[in-house]
Amino acid sequence: MVLDNETKFGTVSKVFHWLSAIVILGLFAVGFWMVDLNYYSEWYRTAPYWHKSIGILLLGFTLARLLWKFITPSPKTLTTHTKLTQLATKLGHLALYSILLVILISGYLISTADGRAIEVFTWFEVMSLGELIANQEDVAGSIHKYTAYSLMAIVLIHILAALKHHFIDKDATLRRMIK
Ligand code: HEM
Ligand code: HEM
Repeated sequence: MVLDNETKFGTVSKVFHWLSAIVILGLFAVGFWMVDLNYYSEWYRTAPYWHKSIGILLLGFTLARLLWKFITPSPKTLTTHTKLTQLATKLGHLALYSILLVILISGYLISTADGRAIEVFTWFEVMSLGELIANQEDVAGSIHKYTAYSLMAIVLIHILAALKHHFIDKDATLRRMIK
């Protein structure tokens, strides 16, 4: 089943969700580690190159994901969820998408503040828009850092909520995102 239906996520939505989840956690780990590398490390240039290349691909992937979300109807919320749970789910997902977009855009703004394009592997380049605000590299760098940490905090709550639905409430919340 490629498309979502009223009760389950389809293959496309599941691939978007799980591939994004793995890539986001990977980018966080690499980002966290790479900022402390020193000039003499063999990863000093390679790690940011990978972080930025994969980050730009994730930006494209996320835009495609959002487009998909808006053109295909998503499954309905489970009727066993209280109104408060349904609201928390909506707000939680909105926060995940919004913070993710801020991280992706701030990452672009850090990397292009000096006017140089971002080289995405050896495949293509994403042009710089130049320095749009004063101290762009530092400002975007702080935003990138704190939103990345905030995302991880919300993801943790998101995971705990999914596990609670699965193991305690024993409802279909997690199953319909997997099977
Ligand atoms: C979900 C996606 C991403 C996550 C979770 C993420 C996470 C991180 C983290 C945790 C750091 C270390 C921050 C610090 O301690 O200062 C970092 C640094 C960095 N990220 Fe990302 N990042 C993402 C996407 C991107 C993208 C799309 C780009 C650019 C195209 C990018 C460019 C950078 C750069 C240039 C740094 C180094 C900043 C500095 O030297 O202070 N990131 N990222
Ligand atoms: C970086 C990690 C993750 C991010 C950014 C993330 C983000 C999201 C987002 C934005 C949605 C809403 C999808 C929609 O548009 O309907 C969603 C749904 C979901 N996620 Fe995650 N997720 C992550 C990891 C996980 C993990 C590890 C689990 C399981 C333990 C999980 C379980 C679920 C479930 C069950 C749903 C469907 C909820 C529903 O039916 O409304 N997610 N996730």
